[in-house]
Amino acid sequence: MIASFSHARLLLLLMFASSICYSEQLSSSQAQTLQRIQVLLNFPSVLSSWNNNTDFCNIEPTPAVTVICYEDSLTQLHIIGERGAPPLPRNFSIESFFTTLVRLPSIKVLTLVSLGMRGQLPSKISRLESLEILNISSNFFHGAIPQEVSLLRNLRTLILDENLFQDRLPDGLNKLSLLAVLSIRKNKLNGSLPESLGNLENLRVLDLSHNRLAGEVPDISSLRNLQVLELEDNLLGPQFPKIGSNKIITLILRKNKFISGIPEKVNSFSHLQRLDISFNRFIGRFQSSLLSLPSITYLNIEGNKFTGMLSENMSCSSQLELVDLTGNLLTGRLPSCLHYEARTRIVSYARNCLVGEDKSQHPVSFCRNEALAVGIVPDHPKSKQPSKTALALSISAGIVGVTVLVVIVFLTLRRVRSKGMVKSPSTRLIQENASVGYTSKFLQDARYITQAMKLGALGVPAYRNFSLKDIEDATNNFDTSTLLNEGSYSQMYRGELRDGSHIAIRCHNMSRRDKSQSYMNHIEILSKLRHQHLVSALGHCFDYHLDDSSVSRIFLVFEYAPNGTLRDWISERRDNQSLTWSQRIAAAIGVAKGIQFLHAGIVPGVFSNKLKITDVLLDLNLVAKISSHNLPLLKEYMGKGKSDIYDLGVILLEIIVGKHINGNGEVDIFRPQLEASTAADIAAPNGVVDPAVQDLYTDESLKTVMQICSRCLHKDPAERPSIEDVLWNLQFAAQIQDPSQSIEGSPASPSTQPPRLQMTIK
Ligand SMILES: *[C@@H]1O[C@H](CO)[C@@H](O)[C@H](O)[C@H]1NC(C)=O
Ligand SMILES: *[C@@H]1O[C@H](CO)[C@@H](O)[C@H](O)[C@H]1NC(C)=O
Ligand SMILES: *[C@@H]1O[C@H](CO)[C@@H](O)[C@H](O)[C@H]1NC(C)=O
Ligand SMILES: *[C@@H]1O[C@H](CO)[C@@H](O)[C@H](O)[C@H]1NC(C)=O
Ligand SMILES: *[C@@H]1O[C@H](CO)[C@@H](O)[C@H](O)[C@H]1NC(C)=O
Repeated sequence: MIASFSHARLLLLLMFASSICYSEQLSSSQAQTLQRIQVLLNFPSVLSSWNNNTDFCNIEPTPAVTVICYEDSLTQLHIIGERGAPPLPRNFSIESFFTTLVRLPSIKVLTLVSLGMRGQLPSKISRLESLEILNISSNFFHGAIPQEVSLLRNLRTLILDENLFQDRLPDGLNKLSLLAVLSIRKNKLNGSLPESLGNLENLRVLDLSHNRLAGEVPDISSLRNLQVLELEDNLLGPQFPKIGSNKIITLILRKNKFISGIPEKVNSFSHLQRLDISFNRFIGRFQSSLLSLPSITYLNIEGNKFTGMLSENMSCSSQLELVDLTGNLLTGRLPSCLHYEARTRIVSYARNCLVGEDKSQHPVSFCRNEALAVGIVPDHPKSKQPSKTALALSISAGIVGVTVLVVIVFLTLRRVRSKGMVKSPSTRLIQENASVGYTSKFLQDARYITQAMKLGALGVPAYRNFSLKDIEDATNNFDTSTLLNEGSYSQMYRGELRDGSHIAIRCHNMSRRDKSQSYMNHIEILSKLRHQHLVSALGHCFDYHLDDSSVSRIFLVFEYAPNGTLRDWISERRDNQSLTWSQRIAAAIGVAKGIQFLHAGIVPGVFSNKLKITDVLLDLNLVAKISSHNLPLLKEYMGKGKSDIYDLGVILLEIIVGKHINGNGEVDIFRPQLEASTAADIAAPNGVVDPAVQDLYTDESLKTVMQICSRCLHKDPAERPSIEDVLWNLQFAAQIQDPSQSIEGSPASPSTQPPRLQMTIK
């Protein structure tokens, strides 16, 4: 009984099954629809077996063509043409095609790939109400994705890859509450992503790579099921996408404009297998913990500006198949777990600043400069300052600054005196470091020394890294009208930044033989030359050879001083303009402060600068700035500071007499006259002083400047005054010339007030 019952049941089941497998016959209208589709698609070869007698529901499925029916209705249709099929002839009408297609109202799965279909996706697609999966990749659909797509409420998978869809992604997609897969890679979508994307709660896969999408990725933190996020090759950024899903497996942000660092949360992505954030503008610390994420197999951070120190003992996941750290600013040593298992995985790390690796590594100073330029404070081992120093600093940085200054003056004097003797160890240290790049300890010391001087950099814009595009925009693509002058290896351009500020750009053409070491040192020093009385460097930019990524051009960006040289305003009388006596002293003070900064404001100091009055430029407010373009940055730094004092004397002389002073001959003519008149206490030595200022100076002020000028020009360097001495005298001269005025005549910070006057009067 039981047996016969189960027999009957089996029979029933078999009959039922056979009815599914064999007895289905497509309604004749739907069969005609398929034949019509064959015609409209211009008889693609994959459909060559179809004819008037084809029993569509029972043809053998192939990878290219599959038809699946339920009862007498077609529920799935897959037609995959030959890869790279050309567009259909012009007589193809996408409208007629869809008019035909919607006669298959119960279709749930539709794949029409590589069939050459062209035109705009018609809005009547919304009539395919049962549609759950749509894949129309590799055709030639263009125009916007119609809003009506969002009426396909049963849609779970929407794949529009490799078409020519353009414009914004439609806003209403959030109505597709079941959507799990959205893939529109390789199209021409532009504009920003709609916020509504963040409401697609069932989304597992979002692939929008290779479009022209721009702006921030909307908040997708409520997509709890997201497993794949691919946004490669767009213009998205700068914020890292707000991902809320812990199930993420693939995260591809390659080739976008992301800047902000990797959020901590990424370290909790225990399923993450592929992380590719290469070729963005990421800055900040590289989290080495990414190397040991439990599931990670592919990690690519190439071409960003990640900083941080790697060390040999870092651990990495054993499943790692590829690690690409190329072209970042990493220092330290490559973790040994990446080194020794190299046979089973690909590891690239060229163009960082790792020690003990191949020749492709930059010197550590490169990474430090670049990091500096993007505003990252480079790594320093945690300093253990004696608490006494810390206390002293916190009580009064000013006192320390002054003390240090005194020490510097003392050392400078001693160095000059001990000239010719065996080099002291500290001197050698400076020299070695100048050629190898400085140790962190050294930079740290330098930081305290420059504390007082740094205040002089107030008001100078931050040093930064410029992009080639910034430079091109600023110079209108190197328009010849912006070319200021040209040498054999370099050109000087004038430019304007987007914020309206004017800049001068020096472009150095590099040869492949140039050692990165030498120019990196140059740039490192330049980047520290920031002072209100220097034509300060604002930043730099590298341009690279395409083939081997070596540096082809270096652009150094400087402030632009629009008012010509100091000579134009003293002896040249440009536009009949001439500086008043007060303005001349202010300019001289500026030059002296610039020299003081060059000597003691940076470590190692820059001496023997061969300064001429034509190297002193005036900015918009007639503030004097020493042009640093010709400073001997790569030559010896050793202490012949007294030749700068002589050069300053020559500039002072021209300021006093108002005539070109070009060589020692002219100095020798005027110096005795100065000495005679100051010694004889003649208030106004007629014939010597520039007639243009005759009525404007006070006797005491003129006399002070003449005296200090005369001392600067002393034949014996040891007899020349120190730069501090010069500065104090000039400030005194300014004070007595015009006691009511601010002492400098230029925007000074309170901390650079001159010392009390009594100290300086002998
Ligand atoms: C199929 O039928 C149509 C008419 O319904 C006819 O025009 C066509 O020639 C037939 N094709 C074949 C291959 O028999
Ligand atoms: C479209 O044009 C092609 C030739 O370019 C022709 O073979 C085909 O029959 C035409 N199709 C229709 C539907 O008119
Ligand atoms: C769309 O269909 C084609 C052909 O079957 C397939 O190769 C491709 O992977 C599909 N796209 C997606 C995203 O599944
Ligand atoms: C997007 O592209 C279309 C043409 O393809 C253009 O008209 C539109 O201005 C673009 N939108 C944006 C934001 O670039
Ligand atoms: C790794 O090495 C660094 C020094 O290279 C050391 O400071 C650190 O404590 C070491 N870490 C571990 C986990 O051994």
